[in-house]
Amino acid sequence: MTIHETALSADSLPDTTVAVRDLFGIDLDLMVPAFSQRSEYVPDLDPAYQFDRGTTMAILAGFAHNRRVMIQGYHGTGKSTHIEQVAARLNWPCIRINLDSHISRIDLIGKDAIVLEDGKQVTEFREGMLPWALQHPVALVFDEYDAGRPDVMFVIQRILEVEGKLTLLDQNRVIRPHPAFRLFATANTIGLGDTTGLYHGTQQINQGQMDRWNIVTTLNYLPQQAEVDIVCARVPEWQTEEGRRLVKGMVAVADLTRKGFISGELSVVMSPRTVISWAQNASIFGNDLAFAFRVSFLNKCDETERPIVAEYYQRCMGEDLGDATRGITMQSTG
Ligand SMILES: Nc1ncnc2c1ncn2[C@@H]1O[C@H](COP(=O)(O)OP(=O)(O)OP(=O)(O)O)[C@@H](O)[C@H]1O
Ligand SMILES: [Mg+2]
Repeated sequence: MTIHETALSADSLPDTTVAVRDLFGIDLDLMVPAFSQRSEYVPDLDPAYQFDRGTTMAILAGFAHNRRVMIQGYHGTGKSTHIEQVAARLNWPCIRINLDSHISRIDLIGKDAIVLEDGKQVTEFREGMLPWALQHPVALVFDEYDAGRPDVMFVIQRILEVEGKLTLLDQNRVIRPHPAFRLFATANTIGLGDTTGLYHGTQQINQGQMDRWNIVTTLNYLPQQAEVDIVCARVPEWQTEEGRRLVKGMVAVADLTRKGFISGELSVVMSPRTVISWAQNASIFGNDLAFAFRVSFLNKCDETERPIVAEYYQRCMGEDLGDATRGITMQSTG
């Protein structure tokens, strides 16, 4: 199949509608606007992606009705990729910006730069990501929204309202959002700060700012069966009967770490992302599940918690992991 990609034009608008039932495998009679042509910045489509109904409906409402949608949940549950995969099926250009602590107001808005024009030095305003995105038919996704710096959050606040115009003060310019501009965010906390200790570097989100998100949805761990489907879809060599049985065990280990975390037994949790990489690593290491488990998850755990994790492994996989603290015993050099 050849994919024809055209350059992204500021004039383009959704020119077709698509049926949710056909495109996302969700039992819902809904048509949503889409682009008939793929253009630059449309994410690559992952045919094996498994859509979660609630999350997908929230994202679709964002695209169809220009709602500001925030997805919150534990790490590695599929928040960012859900938005990307919906965009991929609607041919909607999509850009992700990670709001880590290095992104500054100037990165988003732009700055004066000195350029050469006819051999003379002149200052020229170089637009940042935000003014550019606002004027194009793109879905802008702020990842790690709860890690953004306060100066950046106040810039974003201005465009959160649907009519939200961006005033570039030093430019004397007001930018109106393009009719097909969309805004999404993903976050690990719900803006009330980190109550679990898992998410270093996150901040509380100003309530005035939270108030402006029209839809806030949560994507946490899916039912075990759904997670097994996701892992098997991601790592096709596990799609045999025996493979599925093993993946079920792997998901059960992950589930125990989540329960252990909630009860205070463990301080780390195994995300669906880690289960996927455990399955992938196992294929790389000749189906050695135990070794793959060590390098994918066990070695990330605190030394004192490893025996507990090894016991989970034993319980779900039906075999012993061996010495859980192997390789980390301090050797005396004296
Ligand atoms: N429903 C799903 N179907 C297929 N693959 C999935 C699904 N959910 C998650 N994945 C896979 O799991 C991995 C993690 O997903 P993603 O990066 O979207 O998580 P996240 O919730 O944004 O994590 P973080 O909070 O750390 O940013 C990706 O490799 C993705 O492809
Ligand atoms: Mg993410």
